[in-house]
Amino acid sequence: MHFLTLAAILLPVAKAAETTTINPSSTFGTWEGWGTSLAWWAKAFGTQTTLADIFFTRNTVNFNGFVLPGLGLNLVRYNAGACSTNKDPDGDTMVVSPDITASRQMDAFWLDWNSIQPNSSSWSWTVDANQRNMMQLAIARGANLVELFSNSPVWWMCYNLNPSGSNDGSSDNLESWNWDQHAVYLATIAEFAATNWGVKFTSVEAFNEPSASYWVGPTGTQEGCHFDVSTMSNVIPFLRSELNSRGLSSVIISASDEETYDIATTTFGGLTAAAKADIGRVNVHGYQYGGGRRDILYSDVSAAGKKLWNSEYGEGDGTGSMLASNLILDFVWLHPTAWTYWQVLDGAGWGLITADNNAKTIGAPSQKYFVLAQFTRHILPGMTIMDGGSSYTVSAYSASTKTLVIVAVNWDAAQVLSFDLSKFSKPGVNGALVQRWATQIGSSGMQYTAFNDTFISGTQFSVNFAQNVIMTFQVQNVSI
Ligand SMILES: *[C@@H]1O[C@H](CO)[C@@H](O)[C@H](O)[C@H]1NC(C)=O
Ligand SMILES: *[C@@H]1O[C@H](CO)[C@@H](O)[C@H](O)[C@H]1NC(C)=O
Repeated sequence: MHFLTLAAILLPVAKAAETTTINPSSTFGTWEGWGTSLAWWAKAFGTQTTLADIFFTRNTVNFNGFVLPGLGLNLVRYNAGACSTNKDPDGDTMVVSPDITASRQMDAFWLDWNSIQPNSSSWSWTVDANQRNMMQLAIARGANLVELFSNSPVWWMCYNLNPSGSNDGSSDNLESWNWDQHAVYLATIAEFAATNWGVKFTSVEAFNEPSASYWVGPTGTQEGCHFDVSTMSNVIPFLRSELNSRGLSSVIISASDEETYDIATTTFGGLTAAAKADIGRVNVHGYQYGGGRRDILYSDVSAAGKKLWNSEYGEGDGTGSMLASNLILDFVWLHPTAWTYWQVLDGAGWGLITADNNAKTIGAPSQKYFVLAQFTRHILPGMTIMDGGSSYTVSAYSASTKTLVIVAVNWDAAQVLSFDLSKFSKPGVNGALVQRWATQIGSSGMQYTAFNDTFISGTQFSVNFAQNVIMTFQVQNVSI
């Protein structure tokens, strides 16, 4: 028995080996940051400063018996709500889908159409305190990118008075005479935030997956609204002019937060020239996962001189496998300059930390949390994103600290992976330490575990990777 075990350990294991070469002459833009949308989880838990420490700092945070490496997110998306309980001037009230939970009804600031004056009784600025609080906690911890986004126009701007969508889901729900009012709503929040909350929104987004036909009011479980592409082309110039008239011409308009890469390409291509000119950035969601032509969207958007963000990604795979796979596909093909997880706290699998917004309970972090930490704690704003030379490698370089960051995953059987830095004018120092961190993709195992056991040898370094392990490397003293 003893002998067999020993023999098994000593037998040489046949291993594949691969080398990837980092290309320092490539650049896919300057990294802007990592983020999360606020909305539901922040409405439920927005007073908890420890959560802000976990998500918006890179400190080590003790929480519910767990010791977590803070994710250091610097981007938050603030959801302009569409719900209120008051009567409108016609005496009507909001139509509520029977399937929407209160935790997904986000408070609207604009209560009725009697006045566009934010200091009038048509507006309430005391609502949505928790989401606003989490936004402020994030900003206080260094979040510098703040996007205002809408899932639906306020209910009383909608044909069926239901902010979960039109009755068939595939037709516009924003009344055509309220195209400008939707823009007034968002621009007024942006102005009020600048004046009264000290919050300068980076960008404003008026749509959320607008080409979808699944925003069906009577059966909806969240706020949502279909917009035809032609309607988007009408609303965007209104939003530009409402922002400009409030002194917010430097606030970017982003669009159209479509569900998939392919729909985003079609929508962007279908906007009028005037609407396109008013957009500063294309936002796309990552719900096409392993499918879709990320490369075409990137090429169209960059040819138009616009920035590109993956502004919403999520799925129910708590192992981190889908996240690692799709995020690396984004780096290799889409080249966003920022990336946003939908809800950091959510039901099992979807949440990086499991939580129940209705019961207001928080459970355990998933392996996915630590997989994301491998990226967010090392690929930092200001770094240049480079071609990592393979389908399993992401690389980023900081000219100011002369640090090269490499994130790589091994989906295959255990093998040695080598990273060739010979194309750098200075590929680090021979013999120098390459710090590394590793997470096991799965349901247990290493969680962002640090190692000091890897060293540069000549112009490369090599590491033994077990299967389904993701690692981050930091190489110092690197020059392009
Ligand atoms: C609201 O603001 C407007 C414009 O600054 C001002 O003229 C008006 O008197 C204010 N109304 C109230 C109720 O404070
Ligand atoms: C690795 O070395 C660095 C630099 O000397 C040090 O700060 C860090 O704590 C070490 N980490 C481990 C896991 O030993």
